[in-house]
Amino acid sequence: MQISLCAPADVTTGEAGAWVVGATESPALLPASARLDKASGGALTRALNFSRFTGKSGQFLEVLAPSGIKASRLLLVGLGKPESLDEKGLETLGAQIVGRLLTAGERTASLEIDVPKGSKVRKAQAAAHLAFGARLKSYAFDKYRTRNLDEYEKRLKTVRIVTPEPAAAKKAHAGLTAVADGIFFARDLVNEPPNMLYPAEFARRAKAQLSKHGVKIDILGEAEMKKQGFGALLGVGQGSARESQLVVMQWHGGKKSAKPVALVGKGVCFDSGGLSIKVGAGMQGMKGDMAGAAAVTGTMLALAARKARVNVVGVIGLVENMPDSGALRPDDVLTSLSGQTIEVLNTDAEGRLVLADALTYTQRRFKPKVVIDLATLTGAIVAALGSEHAGVFSNNDQLVQRIQTAGRHTGERVWQLPLDPFYDKMIRSKIADMKNIGGANSGSITAAQFLQRFIEKDTAWAHLDIAGVAWQDGEQKPIIPSWGTGWGVRLLNRLMIEHYEA
Ligand code: BES
Ligand code: MN
Ligand code: ZN
Repeated sequence: MQISLCAPADVTTGEAGAWVVGATESPALLPASARLDKASGGALTRALNFSRFTGKSGQFLEVLAPSGIKASRLLLVGLGKPESLDEKGLETLGAQIVGRLLTAGERTASLEIDVPKGSKVRKAQAAAHLAFGARLKSYAFDKYRTRNLDEYEKRLKTVRIVTPEPAAAKKAHAGLTAVADGIFFARDLVNEPPNMLYPAEFARRAKAQLSKHGVKIDILGEAEMKKQGFGALLGVGQGSARESQLVVMQWHGGKKSAKPVALVGKGVCFDSGGLSIKVGAGMQGMKGDMAGAAAVTGTMLALAARKARVNVVGVIGLVENMPDSGALRPDDVLTSLSGQTIEVLNTDAEGRLVLADALTYTQRRFKPKVVIDLATLTGAIVAALGSEHAGVFSNNDQLVQRIQTAGRHTGERVWQLPLDPFYDKMIRSKIADMKNIGGANSGSITAAQFLQRFIEKDTAWAHLDIAGVAWQDGEQKPIIPSWGTGWGVRLLNRLMIEHYEA
């Protein structure tokens, strides 16, 4: 889908295609709506008389084939109260509009949503965020369909956003386009089936996409990791025919001397559970168990594509958790890269093993000022928070606040859960330094306690358990597609802007 931002003078009111205009509560037509209403001989005011449209946000009023103008349809959208209209609301609106028109039969749409007086949003920002929401909604993953393609075809090909400040809007939109590219890349990675996307293929795609934008990439294979002592990560991959990989992505956009922000991702390309094998229903969707790694990779793409003025390193551990005769056994003891030993009592608690070594490697090599890991780590976080919030655990209150704020600003919200020595006791092992599972309860917390044992003194660290937000089934939301969501890219991008960019 093509999205352009243009000045009112560049378009003729009522030309062919759909026209989308706004109204505030009462309802009160904004200038563009009033103009189209007049040009169509009062089509909108007449329709308003027969509808319950009051201009509340989320409301729509549609007039097909209005007389007097070439437009095929007029769509009046409710903006609600001017003072509560914000950038996030405009993204949702852009997504809702495109959602309605994608399969309605229209090929082009012109959006002329006036920013009402009393709104805090600047005009250029409003247009850019409207465009961003529209773009996010246009995402589709249809590459494996071969039949009845027209049933899935999204006819809407051109969206024009009319704004009085096209130059400033284009500038604001450029950064958001980079973010959308990062989100789409992350969604594609999550949506790919596991026979197509295995560790080496993930690494290849990351390198192909990111090196174009000046990201430095190192890929470590099994031989190199064995030499260095990645006993925990390699233990998870040892039952798979696919080779495990560690991908290190470096973006230098900040001052040469500035310590980097580190992002670490769990990249289990398929989680069968290993010998502690999952039941059939629990295994479905486990191609998405690399969503943490996808979010890190998508964020690196977004930051590099918009040339963010910050130093960031992304490290992802890519493995497949499978049960062959060489597989890790429950009762095995592994020696991690940190030197700490781990008694593996359940091979399905594999994500923490992968992250343990990735965290140690990241801290030792880069001495980062902050480490944030993302992982679809526990089913327990889905039970606790569902798909509205990711869980956040941290040793640093300021970092939590920063993440929470960025979450509120982007709609990718997080909820803090506790770390505490009491929970740490639950992972004591009878024979090794720790075991990889806690008790029957508080599973998300004991998983986070496990990770904390690999955080070196003084490193500010936050762990995001994204098992509930990384993919969604069924009920669709305005901006989110039906499977991989790309959760995390928007949040991390915003966090960089608000706190780490020069
Ligand atoms: N990848 C799963 C967590 C998961 C579950 C993600 C459901 C998304 C949806 C993880 O590797 C896992 O299997 N965790 C176990 C841990 C348990 C064995 C201690 C879990 O949550 O049941
Ligand atoms: Mn598992
Ligand atoms: Zn897993």
